[in-house]
Amino acid sequence: MPAKSPNPVILKRLEALRTQLRDHDYRYYVLAQPRISDQQYDTLMRELIELEKTYPEFIAPDSPSQRVGGEPTKEFPTVTHAVPMLSLSNTYNEEEVRSFDERVHSLLGKEPVRYVCELKFDGVAISLLYYNGVFVRGATRGDGTQGDEITQNLKTIRSIPLRLRGEKKGFDEIEVRGEVLMDREDFRKMNEERELAGEKTFVNPRNSSAGTLKLQDPKIVATRPLKFFSYYLRTEDAPLSSHYENLKILREFGFPISEHARLCKTLGEVIDYWKEWEERREDLPYDIDGIVVKVDSLRQQERLGAISKSPRWAIAFKFAARQATTVLKDITLQVGRVGTMTPVAELEPVFVGGSTVSRATLHNEDYIKELDIRIGDTVTVEKGGDVIPKVSGVIKEKRKPGAKPFSMPGTCPECGSKIFRSADEAHYYCENSECPAQIRARIGHFAHRGAMDIEGLGEAIVDQLVELGFIQNYADLYELHKQKKKLVDLDRWGEKSATNLLEAIEESKKKPFSRVLFAVGIRHVGSGVAQLIVNNIGSMEKFIATPQAELERIQGVGPRIAESVHRFFNDKHNLKLVKRLQDAGLQMEEKKKRVIIQSPFTGKTVVLTGTLSSMSRDEAKEKIERLGGKVTSTVSSNTDYVIVGVDAGSKLDKAKKLGVKTLDETAFSKMLK
Ligand code: IVH
Repeated sequence: MPAKSPNPVILKRLEALRTQLRDHDYRYYVLAQPRISDQQYDTLMRELIELEKTYPEFIAPDSPSQRVGGEPTKEFPTVTHAVPMLSLSNTYNEEEVRSFDERVHSLLGKEPVRYVCELKFDGVAISLLYYNGVFVRGATRGDGTQGDEITQNLKTIRSIPLRLRGEKKGFDEIEVRGEVLMDREDFRKMNEERELAGEKTFVNPRNSSAGTLKLQDPKIVATRPLKFFSYYLRTEDAPLSSHYENLKILREFGFPISEHARLCKTLGEVIDYWKEWEERREDLPYDIDGIVVKVDSLRQQERLGAISKSPRWAIAFKFAARQATTVLKDITLQVGRVGTMTPVAELEPVFVGGSTVSRATLHNEDYIKELDIRIGDTVTVEKGGDVIPKVSGVIKEKRKPGAKPFSMPGTCPECGSKIFRSADEAHYYCENSECPAQIRARIGHFAHRGAMDIEGLGEAIVDQLVELGFIQNYADLYELHKQKKKLVDLDRWGEKSATNLLEAIEESKKKPFSRVLFAVGIRHVGSGVAQLIVNNIGSMEKFIATPQAELERIQGVGPRIAESVHRFFNDKHNLKLVKRLQDAGLQMEEKKKRVIIQSPFTGKTVVLTGTLSSMSRDEAKEKIERLGGKVTSTVSSNTDYVIVGVDAGSKLDKAKKLGVKTLDETAFSKMLK
């Protein structure tokens, strides 16, 4: 083949495509604000690959096409870190952090000290080298002194720039360190796919990230949803003075940094940061296991130095473990308000995620079978995002010979009625609506915050009132005032608590009809469906009279819900309860004009995240629904708007990633008007 001469038009086009693709990668993977569709991106990438195929002599190692170019390796070469990758000493309480702060101050004399607080990512530490702005070598931490060279694997991670952005400012050589991790949701999806394909699933996102980076074939690595956050910059080529400034430089270079890093002037601010993230950690899409506190001034860092393998200028302030192992003593069944039977693990008490856990959910029979959980087993217990602890696995090696498999009983342990399982659901149900467990759960649901919101009527009080015969159903609540005297005389009660409860019950009568409809506890009628019904039908009277076929036609209702509603109102007992609520003065119709001709929310799907200052989340939801919108809890490509309050979490990130329109509170309020 005759040698092709460098065609300036081709070269220009190649460079233009690379610049554009780099920019789109950055917008998508680092800023989570894509400007073009996946399809448009693919078209550009295809053109680049085609051109590079025709002119292979022009392929550059930092071309966006080169992320998955590497061939499998047999063994990773070992590299020596120019500066050792130290580890952090761990602390678990304020006391220890206070001593850290005291030590820092005593070593630095009277100098003022500022700290940078960061999230402690629960991933895998790596190091990246750039020469003249181009990524040349990536490595694992290894033993801190030497690690594995995994450049090809790291190139596949799209949030790692192959070339630095912006002005290079004369940096010939830089080293960037940070953490590779996986979002929980990406991890879950990946595991689901692996399971379907009959492959082994990973235990958690961290193991899965670590395992992936060790794979010898970059093509497989490229299929795994790895992400990167940078938290360290080193260079000899320019004077650096502050860690916080370094983070800004890293961001300008195009590296993802945690947007949650915070400069703190006092120890109190550091402790507040820790407390805040201990509470908010579930809002993040990825796992963190604590915070990292670093002295901001690099000059001070140098003065403080290191002892053995940890620096004296930084410390990890960890959260209490969210996972623990313990013994499963028994499996009992909890009967919910509509008779759903949930298997519950009775555990040897264990401290996990800040509290002692002795019961955890096992979801349903299939879950127990799939994981092969047996009574007597040693199991792992996890506190997930929803804070309800769950049994997440079994340690089979510890299984004792007597471990007993679980099987669902034929009858309800609370009332002895026969139980059944419908074909398309994983749950069993107790059909007896008079089952005492169901009675308690129904009243609990009725009084719950999202329903009638009766303050002070928690689970224990409901149990007590039912047990002592004060109430048998939720309609009885509105006649409880007749027994006030007896209530006052009860053990641990008194005038004040009785009055408070009765006032809260009275107050609940003002709650809108949609809440009442949700509170009465019709299977499959959640708050969203209740609102839909209210929007379309308007009053309880009309609702009861609406034929099943007509209900089915309401968008978002469908046959399953319609059938359940039909069943509910076919029961005389339920009709009587609803009548009593009506007589007590609860709202049984939507007084406001229901049909909104057109509003910015008509037909739109909306997600709320963070805290709004002018209204509660429930109020916002009610308003949107009244304007014809639907409120859902997860952001997807079907979401039209994400309303962003203060301290918004992962939903905002997801919205940005998917390019969903976000509205702040001011914009939202304007649209409501
Ligand atoms: S700074 C000496 N910052 O924690 C400074 N490390 O025990 C060490 N880690 O191997 C690194 N998040 O894997 C730093 N924001 C953060 C971090 C972080 C997680 C991990 C990292 C390191 C280990 C140190």
